[in-house]
Amino acid sequence: MADSQREQELLETAKEVQLGNYRPAPFVLTRGQGCRVEDVAGRSYLDLSGGIAVLSVGHAHPRLTQAIADQAARLMHVSNLFYNDRAIELAHELVQRTSLGKVFFANSGTEANEAMIKLARRVHHDRGDTERTELVATLGSFHGRTMGALSVTGQKKYHVGMNPLIPGVHHVPYNDLDALRSAVSDRTAAVILEPVQAEGGIIVGETAYMQGVRKLCDETGALMLLDEVQTGYGRTGRFLAAEWSDVVPDACSLAKGIAGGFPLGAMVVSDSFANGLPPGSHASTFGGNALACAAGLAVLQIFDDEHLIQRASETGAHLGRRLEQLTDCESVVEARGLGLLRGVAMAPDVDPIGVLAAVRERGVLATLAGGTVLRVVPPLIATTSEIDEGIDVVQAVLKNPPRK
Ligand SMILES: Cc1ncc(COP(=O)(O)O)c(C=O)c1O
Repeated sequence: MADSQREQELLETAKEVQLGNYRPAPFVLTRGQGCRVEDVAGRSYLDLSGGIAVLSVGHAHPRLTQAIADQAARLMHVSNLFYNDRAIELAHELVQRTSLGKVFFANSGTEANEAMIKLARRVHHDRGDTERTELVATLGSFHGRTMGALSVTGQKKYHVGMNPLIPGVHHVPYNDLDALRSAVSDRTAAVILEPVQAEGGIIVGETAYMQGVRKLCDETGALMLLDEVQTGYGRTGRFLAAEWSDVVPDACSLAKGIAGGFPLGAMVVSDSFANGLPPGSHASTFGGNALACAAGLAVLQIFDDEHLIQRASETGAHLGRRLEQLTDCESVVEARGLGLLRGVAMAPDVDPIGVLAAVRERGVLATLAGGTVLRVVPPLIATTSEIDEGIDVVQAVLKNPPRK
């Protein structure tokens, strides 16, 4: 059967058997290598979407695939009734690299955020402050799809039809310290925010704001919870994006790039709150699974050997310059971001979905953030020439973009 015919058949089957909650591009990917992926029909694409900021070491990195194969043949899963060596080793690495205290493993970003929310409530509860249950979050934020994480997500479109959400959540504008100050009270268990609002449109948290949040939390006793699911793990050119503002959170969540595409999430907690979840208070069957943690360890070894965080900082600066040049096009309003988490805001009359389709037709995969921002989050292994190749295509499309 011709490959393109096989692809058509798969697309038709997908429509029959997969839920319609996604809007996938009309082709079927089947393999990847480095920054490139290939579909069933044999077309190749340069992947600037990075699996939505997940593919920290690119597709099919030989050391990551080897580590996964070796671990799968040795020990995959034992449950958290028993220690496994890989989880201990990875937790040790995360503690070292974040300067925080202890780690809880989950399977995704939303679960890591659920853990942070539960930690904050439980900490105050166990101190006898049972009224401190409220959460302050930011408008435009994205924290995930499970009910707790969804409730703190500050975008109404994700709440449609999902009510009632968890009570006691207040949303305030991002980068607005005064608004935050008036929302935090003696009932606030925690403030949760992203160092860069990623899904919300790549909005960088200002240094004074991040430091102000830290100070406010110190003064009021609310925990500062940082969602580093998209920003963490070297994506911005630092291990945690919080390092850009010299802020240490009380807990942070990690996922996406942590195991290079293998499902894994983590909550890392400061020493002060490291005993906040006593035995039985929270758990995850798969969390800290030996196979996922072996993938996580391999990613860190690759980071170190290939200096990927430093590289992300350098290639990210290059990407930033290239995106800044795009603001010469009348279709581009602004370039923004940090490291390899970047985007360009497109003018209101530009058709964002049409732009994605047009760059795809020229062999480049990208995503959107905040509806109108073309997001560029390539694997951290991307070279400047791969970035140039991709941005040349984006530039050609944005010079004469599809309009609404
Ligand atoms: C900042 C942030 N938090 C949480 C999540 C949810 O992560 P997951 O889809 O792994 O549950 C995402 C996903 O895009 C995210 O960007």
